[in-house]
Amino acid sequence: MSMRSTVSASVLAGAVATALGGFHPGGPLRDLGIVTVAAASVLFIVNSFLIAIVVAVFVTAPREAQAVVTGPVTDDRALTIAAAHCIACHSTKPTNPNFARPPKGVVLETTDELRRHATQIKQQAVLGRAMPLGNVTRMTDMERAELGVWVEGGK
Ligand code: HEC
Repeated sequence: MSMRSTVSASVLAGAVATALGGFHPGGPLRDLGIVTVAAASVLFIVNSFLIAIVVAVFVTAPREAQAVVTGPVTDDRALTIAAAHCIACHSTKPTNPNFARPPKGVVLETTDELRRHATQIKQQAVLGRAMPLGNVTRMTDMERAELGVWVEGGK
């Protein structure tokens, strides 16, 4: 529903209500009726405006930005991302106290290791969000997208 159609609907409703008020029997009662209908119409219009504003704000609110990687992603960049978000658990000697060994034997400390697990990395951290586990390191959408570009050949 657009703001314009809301406004014209409320104006129309107001006009109909006022016209109906005009057919009210004469005397003080009639005046009271017109006043009541007019007040109701004003309230209706004000309400419609408020609703229209809320709808407009909702519709035009910025969505969560889709991360778009504009440049190439180098091996170094992929390593930096893995170092920041993966190797606390996925290294030969994890620093995360919950892991004495790299989970599932997946070590992500070198470019070769990243390449070896490229398909899994894409599934776990780019297409899905299973990794980093619980997103403990708060990996961003941009970092996920970058990792995805790197997996696909860095371009
Ligand atoms: C807090 C610890 C932790 C962090 C950080 C972490 N992982 Fe994991 N990862 C795990 C655990 C635990 C498993 C085993 C999950 C299971 O048993 O299904 C796992 C499994 C995996 C697997 C193997 C999944 C499979 O079954 O094929 C891949 C690949 C992986 N992680 C990639 C990553 C990547 C990439 C990152 C960084 C972006 C990352 N992980 C960060 C804990 C972690």
